Amino acid sequence: MNKEILKSIAEAMMQTPKGLLAMDESSPTCAKRFAALSIPETEENRIRYRELIISTPNLSNYISGAILFDETFHQKMSTGVLFRDHLKEIGVLPGIKVDAGAKDFSNHPNEKITEGLDGLRERLVKYESLGAKFCKWRAVITIGESIPSDSCISSNCNALARYASLCQENNLVPIVEPEVLINGKHSIEECDKITRSTLKCLFDELKLINIYFPGVILKPSMVISGDKNSNRANFDRVAEMTVKCLKDMCPKDLGGVAFLSGGQTNDEATNHLKIMNSGIHDLPWRVTFSYARAIQQSALNAWSGKDENYEKAQTILAERAKLCSEASVGNN
Ligand code: G3H
Repeated sequence: MNKEILKSIAEAMMQTPKGLLAMDESSPTCAKRFAALSIPETEENRIRYRELIISTPNLSNYISGAILFDETFHQKMSTGVLFRDHLKEIGVLPGIKVDAGAKDFSNHPNEKITEGLDGLRERLVKYESLGAKFCKWRAVITIGESIPSDSCISSNCNALARYASLCQENNLVPIVEPEVLINGKHSIEECDKITRSTLKCLFDELKLINIYFPGVILKPSMVISGDKNSNRANFDRVAEMTVKCLKDMCPKDLGGVAFLSGGQTNDEATNHLKIMNSGIHDLPWRVTFSYARAIQQSALNAWSGKDENYEKAQTILAERAKLCSEASVGNN
């Protein structure tokens, strides 16, 4: 592990006024999003769509790094250039999702455990040699009747810590993503409680395994009411409770924070981030975005698999990325 390398990558990922673009949907998730728009689920269409994203003009004004799915990391664009090389050329750091997905957690109904540790060291050595600078691992915590269990939280956080350690061994910055799902009727207070327990457990595990915090990016969900709650907390409350939770639970020397959008609308995702960065909250780290749906979804809808919509979709994508970038410095 080279701490200087890790710190400088994390700083480059967190550079103002940029954020991360999560374009690492697994093939089944991509298939679901395509199916909703009747776009045939083929490798060729995944390449066309992802090429549309990363060849969007001025993308690097707003985006410091892009998280790729394994397939994309090895694919070429229609120009014959590898996706990862194109990112390097335009000044966007290439990253890679390395978990193998959230699977049913044995003997824990309705809970998930993220898999992918077997053979991870060898995969990381390969990714690093091919130019990856950072990685992502997503754990899923579900709020429901009598869940999450302590064992779901601790097993997922232990896996996140082991992943982060292997990344740092290979000079790759780990993005640790403990997503507390928005799905459900729960209140913002319940979300706060579960997010706090999860972050407490996560940072205990990371400390225990000697993780170098300036070389880690936390990708959390916001503290927010469930999407089916009939009395959802407003923008100011979400921003205030999220900042308080993070300040209480995260080490001050963390490399940075980059939120997931987690099913929030575009407006919610940008407004919450903007308020957090508006200057009323004193933040010890850079707080930015690592959105997938809140940057991509409206562009995907506009494209709908048709060449004639290509430029319109890129314009929409650039606009969303610009709004997120502005929100990351408290403007728009
Ligand atoms: O792991 C989840 C993605 O990287 C973020 O996706 O912004 O659509 O929640 P999202």
